[in-house]
Amino acid sequence: MSHKKEQTTFSIEVIPAPCVVVIFGATGDLTKRKIMPSLCQLCANNLIHEHTSVICCGRSDYTTESYRSYISQYVPKCSHCNKKSCFLDNIIYVRTDAKEPKTFQDLADQLNIKDSKETASPLNHLFYLAVPPASVTELIAALSQAKLLEETNPDAWRHLAIEKPFGTDLESAVKLDTFLHEHIAEEDIYRIDHYLAKETVQNILITRFANRIFETIWDHHAIDHIRISTAETVGLEGRNSYFDKSGLLRDMIQNHLMEILMLVAMEPPASSNADAIHVAKLNLIEKIRPFTEESMATGIVRAQYTSGNDMAGYLEEPDIPADSMTETFVSLKLFIDNERWQDVPFYIQAGKRMDSQDSEIEIVFKRSTLSFFSEQLSKTLTPNTLTLRIRPDEGMQLDLQAKHSGPKLAIGNLQFDTTYEQQSSNQGAPDAYARLLLDAMLHDHTLFVRGATIIESWKLFTPVLEAWKNNPDKYPLLSYPAGSEGPEFSLEG
Ligand code: BG6
Repeated sequence: MSHKKEQTTFSIEVIPAPCVVVIFGATGDLTKRKIMPSLCQLCANNLIHEHTSVICCGRSDYTTESYRSYISQYVPKCSHCNKKSCFLDNIIYVRTDAKEPKTFQDLADQLNIKDSKETASPLNHLFYLAVPPASVTELIAALSQAKLLEETNPDAWRHLAIEKPFGTDLESAVKLDTFLHEHIAEEDIYRIDHYLAKETVQNILITRFANRIFETIWDHHAIDHIRISTAETVGLEGRNSYFDKSGLLRDMIQNHLMEILMLVAMEPPASSNADAIHVAKLNLIEKIRPFTEESMATGIVRAQYTSGNDMAGYLEEPDIPADSMTETFVSLKLFIDNERWQDVPFYIQAGKRMDSQDSEIEIVFKRSTLSFFSEQLSKTLTPNTLTLRIRPDEGMQLDLQAKHSGPKLAIGNLQFDTTYEQQSSNQGAPDAYARLLLDAMLHDHTLFVRGATIIESWKLFTPVLEAWKNNPDKYPLLSYPAGSEGPEFSLEG
């Protein structure tokens, strides 16, 4: 459509046109923990138009007044906000229930009132579904039936932002995608993977493509292996029933870590626009070697935490069946069958209730093979490693080899370590959700995921999930104490 324009990647200087953000899941955790504070951040930093407003929707019986008072407990008026009228003072609550079409008519009426009152031109609408997966399709159907997803005016867009999970296996993901396309165009769908908006993850492309020194050695000639890992100290955080049906492979690896892998390993896109990046990611994920019975047995480890360090074991958590085989830790090795990555192992790992809260990408280079050093000295050389730290202290570390000061030739590690924040001269990075909300208003798909890559990722992991379910003896579930480094195993060699 002609009025849509992909904005320049990585720029947040453009203020989106006035918009109504309609949030479903008004009383949910995501709304109070992430969406509202992010909107506040955008508002306080003047990054959204002053006529941007918010309608919160849910099944609970709030009035606008009682909802404002409810949400103000969690989101105090932004401290920097010196505006006469903060958007928080103008939130409207509309009770909606997908089973009661009339309630969607009420929502349409509120949107019409805003359209006719607040600005000279019709307003844009961003529908944000911060709801459990089971409610997504019925809400979209209800929005569609009330004609709220239709772009009847060429000057006003309708965007739909949805949260993962996008299906639970290949079949359900394809079904969800087909359903979405029956109701709204792909270009208006913003599938959220909040990892893509983390500073370090956005920085992968800059590190790779703005630094000649890295891109020329970013392949199997120079790189020994790549490790992408995330460890969380937290456990289920009250999402016990959801997690038990999901498990860690579905919760973290199929989406967040695979998105990171694609950015790390893809070929340079033709340009920095969202379509070019998407094509490069899709081309990469299609080249990942499918798992076989053999590689599932030797290249994937799954485990579940038991009690330890004064923390309950997974099976002792509320609402978890005593015989649950759900994994809370996964470590796997995969290969990419293309020229760039031949024989380079990628190690992907994620776990809950670990001993640290760390996420990082480690690019480990091959050791120097020059005969310049004596055999004895060669043994002391450690491989150069580029670490892109996602958490804590988002930043970058490069480990080089250097001569230690002194009269003898002794070689040791020389570490360059910095955080992105230390290097920034501006106000600091917006929270991941603030960035995503802004981009969804700016038609910038760069940090969102597309259906096609999600489906490719499910193609890869659905056979693993089936094998685990059908053949638990062949693919055993290991254990590790809560608060530990994880189970003992080795995927090397
Ligand atoms: C979510 C997962 O997508 O990401 C959670 O469902 C996980 O289980 C969370 O805890 C981790 O996000 P972050 O930003 O804290 O690393």
